[in-house]
Amino acid sequence: DRIKHIRNFSIIAHIDHGKSTLADRIIQLCGGLTERELKEQVLDSMDIERERGITIKAQSVTLDYRAESGEIYQLNFIDTPGHVDFSYEVSRSLYACEGALLVVDAAQGVEAQSVANCYTAIAQNLEVLPVLNKIDLPQADPDRVAQEIEEIIGLDAVDACQVSAKTGLGMEALLERLVRDIPGPRGSAEAPLQALIVDSWFDNYLGVVSLVRIFDGTLKKGDKIRMKSTQRDWEATEVGIFTPKRRPTGILRAGEVGFVVAGIKDIHGAPVGDTITHAKTPDVERLPGFQKVKPQVYAGMFPVSADDYEAFRDALEKLALNDASLEYEPENSDALGFGFRVGFLGTLHMEIIQERLEREYDLDLLTTAPTVVYELAMDDGEIRYVANPSKLPDMANVDEMREPIVRASILVPQEFVGNVIAECEQRRGTQLDMQFLGSQIQLTYELPMSEVVMDFFDRLKSISRGYASLDYGFERFEAAKLVRLDVLINGDKVDALAAIIHRDHAHGRGRALVEKMKELIPRQMFDVAIQAAIGGQVVARSTVKALRKNVTAKCYGGDVTRKKKLLEKQKAGKKRMKQVGRVEIPQDAFLAVLKTN
Ligand code: GTP
Repeated sequence: DRIKHIRNFSIIAHIDHGKSTLADRIIQLCGGLTERELKEQVLDSMDIERERGITIKAQSVTLDYRAESGEIYQLNFIDTPGHVDFSYEVSRSLYACEGALLVVDAAQGVEAQSVANCYTAIAQNLEVLPVLNKIDLPQADPDRVAQEIEEIIGLDAVDACQVSAKTGLGMEALLERLVRDIPGPRGSAEAPLQALIVDSWFDNYLGVVSLVRIFDGTLKKGDKIRMKSTQRDWEATEVGIFTPKRRPTGILRAGEVGFVVAGIKDIHGAPVGDTITHAKTPDVERLPGFQKVKPQVYAGMFPVSADDYEAFRDALEKLALNDASLEYEPENSDALGFGFRVGFLGTLHMEIIQERLEREYDLDLLTTAPTVVYELAMDDGEIRYVANPSKLPDMANVDEMREPIVRASILVPQEFVGNVIAECEQRRGTQLDMQFLGSQIQLTYELPMSEVVMDFFDRLKSISRGYASLDYGFERFEAAKLVRLDVLINGDKVDALAAIIHRDHAHGRGRALVEKMKELIPRQMFDVAIQAAIGGQVVARSTVKALRKNVTAKCYGGDVTRKKKLLEKQKAGKKRMKQVGRVEIPQDAFLAVLKTN
């Protein structure tokens, strides 16, 4: 009977449509939070998440809800990240649920990524309840947005819940609908234990903490448990729920969601997607796990000061404990010295990791332009994968070079569709489909991943006044005419500045790149020649003229405070510069190739 009163659900929402606000409201209505605590948006717990206002890791919270009927329900809300870089985490969270709330901003409309996540939920047999949020806004148009939900996603939205997570309007009705329409889990507390690891992370005091969904059986503190993937046994030293704080309860039964700690020191000992059973029931079947996520972009990261190399390695090791998608291996650059080549899910993931390394570990790092993974068919039949332009083998031995292609789905209001099509064409896209859905148009394109992962999303936003939305996924590798663009500074090739680009764009990009770099490299005591070359042939050049002595003299003048300020500014700027040969190159210049579209 207990299991009939459990509701496991996620919230699918586009960034900014109000998922965290809604979740906090639900927590508050169930007595979990005061109004003041509510202000702090408890679910986004990482500092960087809070600052950027985005959710990265999945979290969960268990709540008691007293329905109008007087019955008490246990609600398990499993949070999901909102950004496309982390969409794999969404399907993981959904796996632990019987239902999902699709939250759409009633003043905005449906966004591409919510559509994709919604399809995942439907494919996994979840009950999806549409929720129109922000109906307190004067520009809210719930009828239009409901129609959009029906046309774009195909969900019946005539009587979708209309709420304002901000004011609390409509929230009780939403919770009633939730317990009425989302089915309870199936399973039996008496059956052998079968639990799925939805997420694992490393805690400095406890070791690995795993978020689990119990499908069958009962997990108790002190139980001898077995990880199906490694066949290793552990003792469950703590079992409990999140409220959202970790609260030991000593027991989790079929249908429930909570955590288990078992003295595991390495995150690979409790891998996400693994099945847990008891040591005494080793024959329990493994649940279908999740696809392991592979990094999509790679960049070189180098400490500005060589003395920081060891500290950098330790920091990466620590971050990787909590982030199974982070990969790294040592890299040695002629220009930048010893560092690491690091793999990321996307450029947002990269920015977050870089920021954490700098803030939490106090490291000054230089990051090279991110690059996707290329597939190389060698003339001896070998297939190689290269994610570092400077490590391309001799092209004479390469039969074919292939680039990753993504299938992208873009939703955009009609008035901006021309801009979006032009942008896709310019990025070598092929249109597969175009549909009019409600007041939006859905475009389906195949695009080279290299054109998408860099600044495509930002560009889409800026050419559509913020209205376009994007979802994409890897499709396949496809042969392309690609070349390596080398950059020479005062005649020396700088390996960390090399880039792989399409041959038809190479000359234009080369010119744009040297111009951009000319703006970014500060003037020095001598002329600095910047050249772009393809296969040893220079295709573009520019020069940063030497400083003239009298200019500096005038600029610094006699004013001591001003001079001090300038010097301080220079020092701060210097932190992220690297001496390459005789020339100081700032961080921005390493990323200049991204800004040449
Ligand atoms: P991610 O965590 O990045 O996925 O974003 P989110 O979807 O959780 O959005 P969040 O809850 O942070 O809300 C985004 C913005 O919308 C915030 O400024 C909220 O205050 C605001 N907001 C949320 N719900 C409502 C609402 O019902 N009405 C109004 N007017 N504003 C709302």
